[in-house]
Amino acid sequence: MSSETPKNSSRKKTLLTSRRTICKAAGLAGGALLVSTAKASSPHEPASPLSQDTKTVASPSRSMSLPAIPARMAAGDADSAPRSMYRLDSLAATLVLIEWQEGLPEIAHWGARLPQNIHAEDVFTAREADTAQNATDQWKPLITLLDTIGDWRFDQPGLIAHRPDGTDWTANFSVKTIEEKPRRLSIHAEDTIINLKLVIELTLSEQNVLTMSSCLTNTGPEPLEVARLVSGTFLVPDRVQSIRVMHGAWTKEFDVSSMTLAQAEIVTESRRNRTHDHFPGMIAATAGANGTSGEVWSMQLGWSGSHRMSAQRLEDGRIRFCAGEWLYPGEVSLQSGESLQTPPAYAAYSNEGFSGCARAFHAHARKHVLVWPNKSMSPRPVILNSWEGNGFNLNEPHLFRQIEAAAKLGVERFVLDDGWFGSRRDDSRGLGDWNIAPDIFPRGLKPLADHAHQHAMQFGLWFEPEMVNPESELYRAHPDWVLAVRGRPLRTSRYQVVLDISRPDVCDYLFSAVSQLVSSVGIDYIKWDFNRDLVEAADAHGRAAYRRQVLALYTLWDRLHAAHPTLEIESCASGGGRADWGALAHTQRIWTSDNTDALDRLRIQGGAWQFLPPEVTGTHISAVPNGITGRVFTLQFRAAVALFGHLGIELDPLELSADEREELVLWVNLHKRLRGLLHSGDAQFGEETSDRVVRGVTAQDRSAAIFLIAQSDAGKARSAAPVRLPGLDPNRRYRVIAPTPQKLTGNNPSAANRALFEKGIVVSGAVLQEMGLTLPRLYPAQAFILECQAI
Ligand code: DGJ
Repeated sequence: MSSETPKNSSRKKTLLTSRRTICKAAGLAGGALLVSTAKASSPHEPASPLSQDTKTVASPSRSMSLPAIPARMAAGDADSAPRSMYRLDSLAATLVLIEWQEGLPEIAHWGARLPQNIHAEDVFTAREADTAQNATDQWKPLITLLDTIGDWRFDQPGLIAHRPDGTDWTANFSVKTIEEKPRRLSIHAEDTIINLKLVIELTLSEQNVLTMSSCLTNTGPEPLEVARLVSGTFLVPDRVQSIRVMHGAWTKEFDVSSMTLAQAEIVTESRRNRTHDHFPGMIAATAGANGTSGEVWSMQLGWSGSHRMSAQRLEDGRIRFCAGEWLYPGEVSLQSGESLQTPPAYAAYSNEGFSGCARAFHAHARKHVLVWPNKSMSPRPVILNSWEGNGFNLNEPHLFRQIEAAAKLGVERFVLDDGWFGSRRDDSRGLGDWNIAPDIFPRGLKPLADHAHQHAMQFGLWFEPEMVNPESELYRAHPDWVLAVRGRPLRTSRYQVVLDISRPDVCDYLFSAVSQLVSSVGIDYIKWDFNRDLVEAADAHGRAAYRRQVLALYTLWDRLHAAHPTLEIESCASGGGRADWGALAHTQRIWTSDNTDALDRLRIQGGAWQFLPPEVTGTHISAVPNGITGRVFTLQFRAAVALFGHLGIELDPLELSADEREELVLWVNLHKRLRGLLHSGDAQFGEETSDRVVRGVTAQDRSAAIFLIAQSDAGKARSAAPVRLPGLDPNRRYRVIAPTPQKLTGNNPSAANRALFEKGIVVSGAVLQEMGLTLPRLYPAQAFILECQAI
């Protein structure tokens, strides 16, 4: 059958006339990379309010008569012809969009950096529409920046909305303008049939991270009920074979499962406003991709509420990645003139395997997401957290002695955990009563904070402001403050219920209670806990309030930061429950998991590293047997694993033996010596098997590196394979040493291995990367740290 069907020849004519169109490139100047896009404002004053802002938007009243149905339009007719090409570039990645005569721009490419001199006509020719036999008479691209219900689209919609009378449930946006700024495109579109405006913002940072968000405005006279508006739609090519989804549970966070994506959709949803079950991230990889090589596409959502992440194979085999909020019924009803702003979705691409995407995310978070007091990150202070060492059993003289002992270990921040307030002597009562317990601290908390300060330590205090125990003064005074469906039984978890912090009176109470203590006690750091999921989270009017709760939390955090500019906050949430970039834009640390068992932490920290830089992830050395798993590991193993994050100690320092104290001091000193590199370098995932983990950080100029080699299980082979160390400069030689206090293990070590633990050995980067080092045999739950210095 001839390909010159009438509709194809008509389409070619259109293409020829459209070749006068231009290639629009944002983010490029004469082939050079442009400077980074400045932050819109401090996240302490949210740059993009995620609220339903009331904007004064002229709302053309909808005509009573329905618009005429236009004439039949075939593929290749003028309305479906390409108009312009747009591109965003970073060092390693390119996004190419095609603006057609109608509809939202098609995503033509998201992946490897393309040469500068690509002509728009070439792209249009390559993407020329073709309709299959016995198929639709109108052609539409399969993947645009926001795929709606309407036209010939059957895949998962990015927008689900309608009017209260059931109308306006299809949307077909037309582009009005596309604004180009360095590294940024703002697409302004509207649908004049259903009276909606849409602005999509796209930014590609110099760190190779594409940020996308949408703002939908109701310009009609009637309200618009919105059930879904995704933040980001990203194209992943058809050659991708596996999708890695994030899943877990309390103490089992950041687990990664790889699955094959057939002709189907993989979806993870979290509807608890905590994300132990599914961190909001997803990764796609080509066959054979590993830690250091292969093509990988990764995405995450910057949002601390409920979410939906999906990977859907389209009918032509390509994959649509979508990230967005999961909205509860009735949560978003836009009145005339109101807007819905989505949280940002982030995407990274790398042809350097999983660590390439992790490096992009880490670098982007450092530059564009994190906000530090005094504008830059201070060396991350080594923490002693009182929880695992004391539980609720707080005793003032003992805490004073713990501070003294912690100071001798080299600790720089002492954190007093749960149990210091009201009637809180276990987890069944007192939560919400933020007054210092006089029976434990008759002189208040200031003497304890002063004691920490006198020992050159910061003082941190635990709060769980969003919650209340029904058995508390606060609940007795304000039972109406909680989120619950009135008339149904109160749903408690850990004996607690959730306060509606979007109420101004609740928010003001919490702000005053916390702020007053920060000032009067001298608090440098808040460990902000959040120990239950939201369920039936209805406000006093019975409406779902999940989304508002997150926005109110961000506002509360920002208020506290504004009132106390040097205050740091940790997003704890039972460990790992609120670990997303939405929280990270307003806090300075994530408590990764309540599980401090070093073997489990190997996996948990590996999962977290795919999205979070090590300097914000709390990693603690705890006592043995471990409180969650009961397992007993050597201090060397526990410390080596904990070294790769923001180090803390989570035990009673007064219970350590003299030998343990001596060894712990050496580990703390080692962390302090290495933290500059650990907290600024490039993540490297080495070869990871079922029994061995190789992970490290290299300096950006590759002059130094530090690696963790950990045995997670007994190897099957008689002797262990040489360990290859990725990310080094193949043309330089390195002195490699296993620094103190590590001890050589195994029988009959070679001279090289003895030297490794004494003065170090010198090996070229190429040999370390390609051939690897034969290390002393490790038993399960043993680890080495290797330090490399270029000579
Ligand atoms: C859960 C946290 O993750 C722990 O570290 C500890 O702070 C407890 N809550 C206290 O209740």
